[in-house]
Amino acid sequence: MSVSQHGMWSSKLGFLLAAVGSAVGLGNIWRFSYVTAENGGGAFVLIYLAAIVIVGLPVMIAEVMLGRAGRQSPIHTVATLARESKASTGWAWIGWSGLICGMLILSFYCVIAGWTLSYGTTYLLGLFTDGPAVSDAGAHFGALTSSTGQLLFWHFLFVALTVFVVARGVEKGIESAVRLMIPSLFLILIALVIYGMTSGHFMQTLNYLFQPDFSKVTGQTLIAALGQAFFSLSLGMAGLMAYGAYVPDKASLPRLCALICTADTAVALLAGLAIFPIVFAFALDPHTAGPGLVFVALPTAFAQMGWGDLYGLAFFTLLAFAAWSSTISLVEGGTAYLVEQGLSRPVAAVALGGGAGTLGILSALSFTHLKDVSLFGRNLMDNIDFVASNVLLPLGGLGIAVFAGWILSEKLRHEQLGGLSAATYTVWLTLVRYVAPLLIGLIFLSSIGLI
Ligand code: TRP
Repeated sequence: MSVSQHGMWSSKLGFLLAAVGSAVGLGNIWRFSYVTAENGGGAFVLIYLAAIVIVGLPVMIAEVMLGRAGRQSPIHTVATLARESKASTGWAWIGWSGLICGMLILSFYCVIAGWTLSYGTTYLLGLFTDGPAVSDAGAHFGALTSSTGQLLFWHFLFVALTVFVVARGVEKGIESAVRLMIPSLFLILIALVIYGMTSGHFMQTLNYLFQPDFSKVTGQTLIAALGQAFFSLSLGMAGLMAYGAYVPDKASLPRLCALICTADTAVALLAGLAIFPIVFAFALDPHTAGPGLVFVALPTAFAQMGWGDLYGLAFFTLLAFAAWSSTISLVEGGTAYLVEQGLSRPVAAVALGGGAGTLGILSALSFTHLKDVSLFGRNLMDNIDFVASNVLLPLGGLGIAVFAGWILSEKLRHEQLGGLSAATYTVWLTLVRYVAPLLIGLIFLSSIGLI
């Protein structure tokens, strides 16, 4: 039985929880709701679901499988596997692109994750005062996002939390946190969905989310749906490859990956069903709300609800946890690489967190001093998100699919996926060899304007 120098998950459940923790995060709740709104609802959701099944799941299996086959940081894993398969070690670009992409995502992700800490604190303090903690959600959000000092304070606090866990090693901290957190997050979301069903505009939400209007679909919709699928599933930056390196030999990867995809999708859809009834009931404009959508819509509801401050506290605490279990997966792969290069784990984690945290200042300032700086019609934060999510993630996913499907030796593939029936294996191989590269490639070319 092979093991990784960085440690191992205590069991396959440990991996499952960590991977679900990585996948379930701001992407499912904050990003899913506003990207869905920006892309007009139903048709986007349908394409997003298709992207998960056709591209997301097979690529996830490929990514985790490569990690387990190599048992090192993504960069060294891909290089080693390439060597063993008699191919160029240049394929290690997949690991490098992942490292850079992880830093880019971390940089803006911690800004938003910082908002969850700020809101959580507000609701906590609200428990000790009369009346709702946040009575005018729009004004509250405006005040937070126009204060550079507050944005930076919460941002760096979140970076520090992330570095802290990664520095200590993932198993103890995160494994036990997600064990409690994911089930609780589900319960709170279901409670909010029930609230939305009874007091919000639920039918309108169902139409909005599930009635596709294909006349609204453009190349942009496809890019956004694929980008959202990769972002939400934590695919394409080799974060799950890093996690895969710590999975015990016997575990069946396809089954675990199917569970991860299912849990992740369920959280996103529940979040949509919780958020949009409120958006419609209060006549908020989903299309123009942008990144503020959850931070305005849900507090608007909390202000009307009995026990609203308690709901607010619970919801934003869980969202902070969900974000936290995601950010560590953005840093783990790079940290493992630096450790293999001789650094100690804490130094490696601080170096990466410090770099990404500093870059994150640009995203924080996108709400204040640099609000009017626009490149390609997007502010700085949206540009960083675009390059990471819509360029590097699909590119990394493409590399992973091609590498696993075409470059990796048949022997290594079989060692990893030997438990599959011949038919299922063929379906998977066809998807990673032909379907995923073709779809990702086409969408990618159109996203950079080549077709
Ligand atoms: N999937 C997480 C979310 O939905 C974010 C995330 C964590 C991520 N690790 C990743 C995104 C790796 C892309 C790649 O919030």
